[in-house]
Amino acid sequence: MHISSTLAIPETGYVPAHVAIIMDGNGRWATQRHLPRVAGHSRGLDAVRTVVEACAVRGVKYLTLFAFSSENWRRPADEVTFLMRLFMMSLRREVVKMHANNIRLKVVGDLTRFSPRIQQLIADAERRTAGNTGLTVTIAANYGGRWDLLQAVRKMLLQQPMLDPSTIEESTLAPHLAMAYAPEPDLFIRTGGEQRISNFLLWQLAYSELYFTDVFWPDFDAAELDKAFASYRQRERRFGRTSAQVVAPSGLSGTA
Ligand code: FPP
Repeated sequence: MHISSTLAIPETGYVPAHVAIIMDGNGRWATQRHLPRVAGHSRGLDAVRTVVEACAVRGVKYLTLFAFSSENWRRPADEVTFLMRLFMMSLRREVVKMHANNIRLKVVGDLTRFSPRIQQLIADAERRTAGNTGLTVTIAANYGGRWDLLQAVRKMLLQQPMLDPSTIEESTLAPHLAMAYAPEPDLFIRTGGEQRISNFLLWQLAYSELYFTDVFWPDFDAAELDKAFASYRQRERRFGRTSAQVVAPSGLSGTA
């Protein structure tokens, strides 16, 4: 298992190994076109397909998508129902294509709130793609960063009830986080103009590069992804060190 820790300093490469995205702006995309908000979600799913493929082609190892936050249940009932249907349909149809392309699917979040049917589809999709070695796509569904930290603390204490508080370190807690199988995101992208983390991966984004764009999610395509990657490549990731201490990463020279 890959244990996330801010103490492990990843190499800055040409392409970020882990990209995490808040896909925002579906509703506004639709409203601008005088369409119902749910039409934006349908087009949002098209953008998911495009970005998954673009990431696989570019050699990204982990792509994490915030599909439904713990707060999204507060939306109008018909919109929530539509999103659940879209999710269910994707779990049936898209997973077949993902599997054919060696993509592993994971779903993180408090899944107990989903219908038994959806929970079953998630379990089946994860089991089916578990052995795939290409891109790992993680869907954050009914996910919240604070929920993740709390469930990690609970799991840690259940496993080690006699734990001495003075011995707890990052590496004691990190294996219990929902995404313990992945390194921390190198690049965080939020579409739709807002500049917030919105209770996404709170622990894991500690040292990630943050990229915000006004582009609405349905319009986010491979060219927009490349803009985000170009911005990422220009950043100097210091992880608390001084500029002088940062050695130029080997993978950068000669790459466009
Ligand atoms: C945010 O836009 C988007 C969502 C809450 C849902 C995201 C869902 C998809 C992209 C499609 C389905 C994806 C999967 C993985 C099945 P918003 O509605 O908040 O837009 P707004 O801010 O303009 O209102």
